[in-house]
Amino acid sequence: MKKILIIGGGAMGSAFSIPCLDNNHKVFITEPYSQRFIKNLSSKNKFHSALKINLPKKLKFKKYSNELFYEKYDLVVIALSLTGIEFIASELKKFKLKSPILVLTKGLKYEKRNKKILTISQTLLKNFPKLNLSVLKGPCLAKELARKCQTSVIIANKNIQIAKLLGKMISTKYYLIEYSKDVVGVEICSAIKNIYSMIIGSGISLNKSSSLFQKSLSEMKYITKRLKGKEDTVLSLAGVGDLYVSAAGGRNSKMGNYLGQGFTFQKAKKKFMANDTVEGEQLVREIAPFILKKFNSKKIPLMFQMIRSILKNKKFLI
Ligand SMILES: NC(=O)c1ccc[n+]([C@@H]2O[C@H](COP(=O)([O-])OP(=O)(O)OC[C@H]3O[C@@H](n4cnc5c(N)ncnc54)[C@H](O)[C@@H]3O)[C@@H](O)[C@H]2O)c1
Repeated sequence: MKKILIIGGGAMGSAFSIPCLDNNHKVFITEPYSQRFIKNLSSKNKFHSALKINLPKKLKFKKYSNELFYEKYDLVVIALSLTGIEFIASELKKFKLKSPILVLTKGLKYEKRNKKILTISQTLLKNFPKLNLSVLKGPCLAKELARKCQTSVIIANKNIQIAKLLGKMISTKYYLIEYSKDVVGVEICSAIKNIYSMIIGSGISLNKSSSLFQKSLSEMKYITKRLKGKEDTVLSLAGVGDLYVSAAGGRNSKMGNYLGQGFTFQKAKKKFMANDTVEGEQLVREIAPFILKKFNSKKIPLMFQMIRSILKNKKFLI
């Protein structure tokens, strides 16, 4: 029995507790930010308002505090959204955490000072280079994992033995784990698929979406290679696997669909998705300064069109 701490009690962090509990580990979950999730997780029946299920009673909620980090864990899982990454980076540095860390968060950061794109693991390691860090990505709808639907994901670490040890700890007959050494590639693919699923969603007809799917894969390969990931990783669960699930449904492709119908981004957001977080939009805003400066629009025309339609509120014309 291992001791696991999950930081982030949103949909993904809470769903992730299910395979861990099924493997008879002692699982703690903490929530540093959202009153809604704190209320859900600390309630008697543990009804999770995003997952719409009662979480197992065995899952222990811990109030977020400094004391949490004085304990030893066999694994600490980070399941915060991208906006929580700077916060947790400074916390990890402060407490010099020695436990292995597994990051579920998807996204990229633009570091203005050095004009560089950083992956989440690079953002965390920048603050505290000694972290023992792995990333887990891939096609995983939290609601489905929470209901034990078969789900395949990929753990990346340059030291594949560490990735395999973690995989052994968390895999079940419904949560299947693959492995990769290409940490950068896995992180880039799992982030930019949010933008390409908007692009594919804009196709409206299946014929057009299919052609956008093929073009998206070519652009993802180009970007991944330029940012020092491996081209082949685009064909892994973190790339095409995650692109499929995001393009087939979800908020990014829904927004893409409105853009394809001829709405501008601002109009579609206000009229149909005012309260929804569109991760692809957030990522476009984060990385656009870098992409516009460092990339050739002829190499990644779909990405340039999407940047233009989000930043300049122009119609998405492809
Ligand atoms: N690796 C995977 O298999 C996988 C699968 C699905 C989603 N994800 C990723 O997991 C992350 C979380 O997704 P989710 O569906 O649980 O989202 P969610 O909105 O349900 O939960 C977001 C979490 O981040 C926290 N948070 C938000 N803003 C914060 C801030 N400013 N400071 C600190 N914490 C903050 C929230 O309190 C909550 O714990 C996303 O990056 C998503 O892309 C990963």
